[in-house]
Amino acid sequence: MRIAVARETDPNENRVAATPETVKKLKGFGAEVTVEPGAGVKSGIPDSEFTAAGATIADGAARDADVVLKVRRPGEAEVKGYKRGALVIAIMDPYGNDAALKAMADAGVTAFAMELMPRITRAQSMDVLSSQANLAGYRAVIDGAAEYGRALPMMMTAAGTVSAAKVFVMGVGVAGLQAIATARRLGAVVTATDVRPAVKEQVQSLGAKFIAVEDDEFKQAETAAGYAKEMSKEYQAKQAALVAEHIQKQDIVITTALIPGRPAPRLISAAMVASMKPGSVLIDLAVERGGNVEGAKAGEIVEVNGVKIVGHLNLANRVAASASGLYAKNLLNFLETMIDKASKSLAVKWDDDLVKATALTRDGAVVHPNFAPKSAA
Ligand code: NAI
Repeated sequence: MRIAVARETDPNENRVAATPETVKKLKGFGAEVTVEPGAGVKSGIPDSEFTAAGATIADGAARDADVVLKVRRPGEAEVKGYKRGALVIAIMDPYGNDAALKAMADAGVTAFAMELMPRITRAQSMDVLSSQANLAGYRAVIDGAAEYGRALPMMMTAAGTVSAAKVFVMGVGVAGLQAIATARRLGAVVTATDVRPAVKEQVQSLGAKFIAVEDDEFKQAETAAGYAKEMSKEYQAKQAALVAEHIQKQDIVITTALIPGRPAPRLISAAMVASMKPGSVLIDLAVERGGNVEGAKAGEIVEVNGVKIVGHLNLANRVAASASGLYAKNLLNFLETMIDKASKSLAVKWDDDLVKATALTRDGAVVHPNFAPKSAA
């Protein structure tokens, strides 16, 4: 059983799919682990640490591996070099990328998309959306604090008092909760909103104030899976009025609102941005999915009348060492379910719900029901 840890080809990707700790575990399962040179450098892991954990360092390690661990989906040229039948486990970004999925099918690899992992108790330790969103929420506050020209905590000094910053978090999923906790630790006065009623108590337990239009529609807004529904036009208008009033007084606004399978809801209009004080900062975590803030630009910081709209992409990547540590554990926990400990060999359980939910390609075809070509589905 040969496992390769690939070096990421995207120059902006700082994370790595294994750490010395996970390499040791994989060795314990009977695997030979090979790491491509420099794979961990941008996450603060030199090759020597992988070697000390029992890995071999070799260029092109992915070419003859039975399992390739990656952060991002391999490109066409990359995957062509992999062994047919190899398992490739990564964040595959499958939506709207049919050609890339076909390239993986054509290369004959079995590709697993970690972000399709079901959100059930057994798979919590493999949930990359949560592990990365948690750090993204943390980083959003750090980025917000860095762009903001004042201190966050209240400070009483001989030279006068610095008042505490007001932070407003919109969308309280995994990222939003961590943003609230981080802003509180930095001493900010925090408020938060979400359309799911279950969130109210969580917000309050973190010491923040919950702000929302709590009508009958709000009370029904959560799906059985725990996600938000798209709200009616009427609700959106009421919510917008509430936000418009609140936002003028805020110093840092962090938006994380997403609805599965839909563009991100527009929560902040240009008029609301214009109503904010110069020096205020908006951090839009939903920018990759169209943005919660009007005027946010992916990968850029836009300034409108002294208000900064920050559209950094992939915030977890901005805390790469921590993000790699958690991501590598997520991969290890999933891969462990595919290894037979007695024979120390790969034994994928094809009828396991976790495997069925994440397998994108197999035996030369795209097999996932959401992505298979219509005739084959
Ligand atoms: P997400 O990334 O899909 O969305 C972020 C947040 O935006 C959600 O809280 C959503 O309600 C909110 N939102 C959507 N539209 C909005 C609007 N118009 N205004 C304000 N907020 C809006 O959510 P994420 O972080 O993936 O988590 C969703 C839920 O799944 C949470 O309840 C979380 O606790 C749960 N979950 C369960 C797991 C499990 O294993 N059982 C694992 C991870 C999350």
